[in-house]
Amino acid sequence: MKIVLLGYMASGKSTIGKQLAKKLYLNFIDLDDYIEEKEKMSISTIFKEKGEIYFRRIEHIYLKEILNSDEKLVLSLGGGTPCYANNMDFINTTNAISVYLKTTIKTLVERLLKEKSKRPLVASLDNEKITEFVAKHLFERGYFYEQANFTLPIDNKTINKIVTEIRILLH
Ligand code: S3P
Repeated sequence: MKIVLLGYMASGKSTIGKQLAKKLYLNFIDLDDYIEEKEKMSISTIFKEKGEIYFRRIEHIYLKEILNSDEKLVLSLGGGTPCYANNMDFINTTNAISVYLKTTIKTLVERLLKEKSKRPLVASLDNEKITEFVAKHLFERGYFYEQANFTLPIDNKTINKIVTEIRILLH
């Protein structure tokens, strides 16, 4: 079984994915970490030195590499992965089960303000501009996110509760 977790930046995909994989005795891969390891460069440096178009190209290649493998695993995508290179169509042609971890703008903004520097897309924005940016971006990206097999609202839920709810969806 392959389980793919998707959602906006700072929605908790990696934390939830790690915990879910542990409960299911599956390997866990975070796509951003995988890219950093393969490219021997941080995501921020890839954006800075090679640009977003290059990043989206390799993100697509590594996504395919992981999903075409025989390994059973939990995979957390980057926030933009579903929205480029027809990645959602590709994911839906594999036998992976995809879950959109849906969060409100308010929660995302609170979290992003705390960890802005790690996110190249928001790092240079003024704090007052972040809400406006996230609202518009989430609206655009929602079209792709909603193509997941399941949409799970996760605001105000503990990690344990979210993991349990995902396990119920998988049955
Ligand atoms: C991105 C999200 C990031 C990372 C890159 C681009 C995006 O992943 O892939 O900075 O376009 O939303 P996280 O969602 O893990 O922050």
